[in-house]
Amino acid sequence: MTGTPVRVGVVGFGYWGPNLVRNLDRLGDAQLVAACDLSEANLAKISALYPSVEATTDLDRMLADYNLDAVVVATSAPSHFAIASKVIAAGKHCFVEKPLTLTSADSEALVRAADERGVTLMVGHLMEYHSAINWIKNHIATGDLGDVLYVYMQRLNLGKVRTEENAFWSLAPHDVSIVLYLLGEMPDSVSANGAAYVTPGVQDTVFANLHFPSGKMANIHVSWLDPHKVRKLTIVGTKKMLVFDDMEATEKIWIYDRGVGEPTSALSYGEDLTLRFGDITVPFIKMTEPLGLEVQHFLDCCRSGETPRSDGRDGLRVVRILEAVGESMAAGGAPVVTTVEV
Ligand SMILES: NC(=O)c1ccc[n+]([C@@H]2O[C@H](COP(=O)([O-])OP(=O)(O)OC[C@H]3O[C@@H](n4cnc5c(N)ncnc54)[C@H](O)[C@@H]3O)[C@@H](O)[C@H]2O)c1
Repeated sequence: MTGTPVRVGVVGFGYWGPNLVRNLDRLGDAQLVAACDLSEANLAKISALYPSVEATTDLDRMLADYNLDAVVVATSAPSHFAIASKVIAAGKHCFVEKPLTLTSADSEALVRAADERGVTLMVGHLMEYHSAINWIKNHIATGDLGDVLYVYMQRLNLGKVRTEENAFWSLAPHDVSIVLYLLGEMPDSVSANGAAYVTPGVQDTVFANLHFPSGKMANIHVSWLDPHKVRKLTIVGTKKMLVFDDMEATEKIWIYDRGVGEPTSALSYGEDLTLRFGDITVPFIKMTEPLGLEVQHFLDCCRSGETPRSDGRDGLRVVRILEAVGESMAAGGAPVVTTVEV
């Protein structure tokens, strides 16, 4: 604990809200004061677990009555914009689960509103707080991999098939935020193909290509229709290649000293390229619960006024890419410009 506890209210205590609340409670840097949910059953759950918390179905009352510093929004995505708008208008710091909103116009409006009101806006891009992802980001910066050429990611499973959003909106916000975080660059265009094999109109399988101004490429493959549960990231650099497998319990990162060597003789270039096979390294990564780090970062930013790592602008960039993937699929895979400026 680093000062007076931040007075926090939470909106949404369904599946994910309890995980955020558990961390808020455990860190000791926050005082959980009030909770709002439209479901009386879910309010009863929070009251049973945290008897001192004021539970209400009335968001306006929660924002007006409890002298809150900050509000954590963990409701389903369609309600994020309306709830976060109210929270910011009430002058409270605001954490919103991913995706920030369902359209880039709404995300942009939230970013502007938070700027105008002078409050912190942070989005729950959990993987930006993951120990392995941060290890990889630091490792790229050391130059060990050389220049990153391209990245591809797979998030595959059999089910859970959703009908209210396609597989890209459901599964890829994390992958998109990881790619932007690792490469530190916004793609200038996106092209995607997807298919709705299970529910008409709702793509369950999507292949998206992100094209970056630097020439780098990223491919994200998500699906609810796959025999394997896969959570994998591969980075190909000019010197080495790295694989992150989030399904592995301990050996999550593998670095391959492999590549294509320079020609050594006067033969034509293609004939004389050599394949290089070197050591495989598996670094030890000390894992800390990402959600605890994420929540702590939010509380620290509320206090210090520092811009969060996953701020509203980061949320907007991710939403613009999710949106552009939908636009490209609707246009038969045509490239869609992704530039955003706020
Ligand atoms: N970071 C992660 O890894 C992760 C994992 C799961 C879910 N999430 C995100 O968390 C959010 C919530 O997901 P979930 O699976 O918990 O959903 P959920 O449907 O299980 O729970 C949502 C809760 O919000 C309440 N709610 C809905 N609208 C409301 C409103 N207008 N006012 C007050 N309460 C309202 C519902 O009654 C419910 O209790 C989503 O944005 C989701 O993407 C993030």
